[in-house]
Amino acid sequence: MLMKSSAVLGAAALGAWAQDTPTYILNTNPSSPVSQPHTAQFVSYSFEPAFWTEFFGEPSSPRNLTFTLLNQLHSRGARPIIRAGGITMDSMIYDPKQALSAVRTENGKGGIYRTTIGPSFYKQWDNFPPGTTFISTLNFGNNSLPIARDLALASQSLQRDKILYYELGNEPTNYPSSRWQRSTANYVSQWLNFTSAIASSLLSTRPAGGGDSDGPTGGKPLFWASSATTDKTDLHVRPSDLIPAGINKTGRVGQYSIHSYAFATCDPAREKLATIPNILNHTALKAYADDEIYPSAKAALDSGAGWVVGEFNSIACSGKPNVSDTFAQALWTADVELLYAVRNASSVHLHQGATLAFQSDQQLNTPGDDGTPGFSSYSLLYPIDSSKRGEARVLPVFVSQLLVVEALKGGGRIAELALPKGGGVKSNEWSGYVVQAAGKEKRLVLLNMKPFYAGQAGKRGEVMVDIGKHNGVEVKRMTAPSVDEKDAAKVTWAGQSFRDGNAVGEVTVEKVAKGGKVLVRDSEAVLVTFL
Ligand SMILES: *[C@@H]1O[C@H](CO)[C@@H](O)[C@H](O)[C@H]1NC(C)=O
Ligand SMILES: *[C@@H]1O[C@H](CO)[C@@H](O)[C@H](O)[C@H]1NC(C)=O
Ligand SMILES: *[C@@H]1O[C@H](CO)[C@@H](O)[C@H](O)[C@H]1NC(C)=O
Ligand SMILES: *[C@@H]1O[C@H](CO)[C@@H](O)[C@H](O)[C@H]1NC(C)=O
Ligand SMILES: *[C@@H]1O[C@H](CO)[C@@H](O)[C@H](O)[C@H]1NC(C)=O
Ligand SMILES: *[C@@H]1O[C@H](CO)[C@@H](O)[C@H](O)[C@H]1NC(C)=O
Ligand SMILES: *[C@@H]1O[C@H](CO)[C@@H](O)[C@H](O)[C@H]1NC(C)=O
Repeated sequence: MLMKSSAVLGAAALGAWAQDTPTYILNTNPSSPVSQPHTAQFVSYSFEPAFWTEFFGEPSSPRNLTFTLLNQLHSRGARPIIRAGGITMDSMIYDPKQALSAVRTENGKGGIYRTTIGPSFYKQWDNFPPGTTFISTLNFGNNSLPIARDLALASQSLQRDKILYYELGNEPTNYPSSRWQRSTANYVSQWLNFTSAIASSLLSTRPAGGGDSDGPTGGKPLFWASSATTDKTDLHVRPSDLIPAGINKTGRVGQYSIHSYAFATCDPAREKLATIPNILNHTALKAYADDEIYPSAKAALDSGAGWVVGEFNSIACSGKPNVSDTFAQALWTADVELLYAVRNASSVHLHQGATLAFQSDQQLNTPGDDGTPGFSSYSLLYPIDSSKRGEARVLPVFVSQLLVVEALKGGGRIAELALPKGGGVKSNEWSGYVVQAAGKEKRLVLLNMKPFYAGQAGKRGEVMVDIGKHNGVEVKRMTAPSVDEKDAAKVTWAGQSFRDGNAVGEVTVEKVAKGGKVLVRDSEAVLVTFL
């Protein structure tokens, strides 16, 4: 890769900065607890199984665009875990005779009654970059042990070495209340019942010989537990509810999973709140992480267990066009992933999919014509051409994944930073982190979350940050012409854009001389590496 270095100050790469740009003094010591060291699996994904073929193709014809993006992450050292999960896993059935990976049974308007998967669904896992691991998801929605068990056995027989954990059921908080009569104990009892039966079947039908006979979980079939949303429901099954209720009394829990969606377009009231300024309000994002997610994280960590954000995205019910398909989504994703990194999530699974007509009867999004997929506007990409979203392409959010991967690489331990001092920078418009990686490498991630819109009157605001004494730093910048930019060709990470999956442009690393300051414009983020 070519490396282009611009002279002296970061600002030089952007043209002259204004003489009157105010300087802010940043204390680069942690203002929060420092996290555990993060692994190459931290940046991970969840893909709605009903749309598996659209995203990944068939084993003999893999979907180039999606795999190109995954390869971009792997080439930077990331090893995303793939959860084949979401609401449609709860009506997913395995048919050993079906030739295609995944076939939807729909009502003609995009309502999905069933997703039937065949052996190709699992065989396709061989097309993922080497080192990819998976969460094998099992249908709990049909309330049928044979259906759940057949999925587990098929995945084990075809891909045992790639399965990290099994997951029984998606978002039990959304099941009909008749299922467990709003009782945590009823839920726990049935979950233990199913997982014990499934684990016994898995152990008694282990394929003999070949490969890593113990698999990633050391031979023991282990499950994710909870997979609850933070919606206010009568069934209390978040990890903080399930741990005291004895969910691990049979020793089958590997990690705790919780889902994070702070905004939604599932109904008109919440749709009004799903705006660019709201999804970029750092104060609110941090409050949601602390109030809704962290109590479950803490319950897991206190019990000695790991926890994951098994599914999340900015705006539930498939995002909001003109918000989640803009550069704002890149700033949102980077900030939220780092908030959960500080809070010791082992992995965070950004959800990818398409509109599900059965999710809500008053949602903003709809499937495409004739029930074709209306791809979620919060996804990394539109994997195929579609009537609803136009040509296949990468969305502006993708660059955030490169920022987070590079920020945490090398076992990075991350903490929050206090607001830079000097007046003016508001806590809802600014987010800062310090990362300490192996070999004592120190990095900063600075996110200026203040929206700057296309066509906005006046000059784009900017913050000049005095990062204290140093012997020189290198800066990589995540930027776009404006916060509402929708064309990924104009959105760059370290000078490169990725609209068609491949990098366009040369890597641009800005060199800041000894003691120099770092410029962050409104709606922009930087990764600063101390030399
Ligand atoms: C994260 O884990 C580290 C130990 O690795 C601990 O010191 C820290 O307090 C934890 N942070 C939170 C927010 O729980
Ligand atoms: C995508 O297609 C191009 C051109 O045919 C090919 O060079 C590249 O290897 C493919 N990438 C993947 C990940 O399959
Ligand atoms: C599974 O449950 C769904 C939703 O209730 C239902 O439409 C479908 O017919 C069920 N499938 C089977 C095989 O029972
Ligand atoms: C588990 O489920 C089976 C089949 O429904 C039932 O016979 C058994 O009583 C259940 N066991 C427990 C402990 O709930
Ligand atoms: C569940 O219990 C088993 C057996 O005691 C233990 O090995 C495992 O670490 C526990 N899992 C969690 C998530 O605490
Ligand atoms: C940002 O969120 C906080 C916490 O929810 C709220 O108090 C504040 O009014 C919000 N700020 C703006 C500008 O919306
Ligand atoms: C998105 O913005 C475009 C251009 O301003 C507008 O035509 C379109 O109606 C908007 N879409 C939605 C769903 O608001």
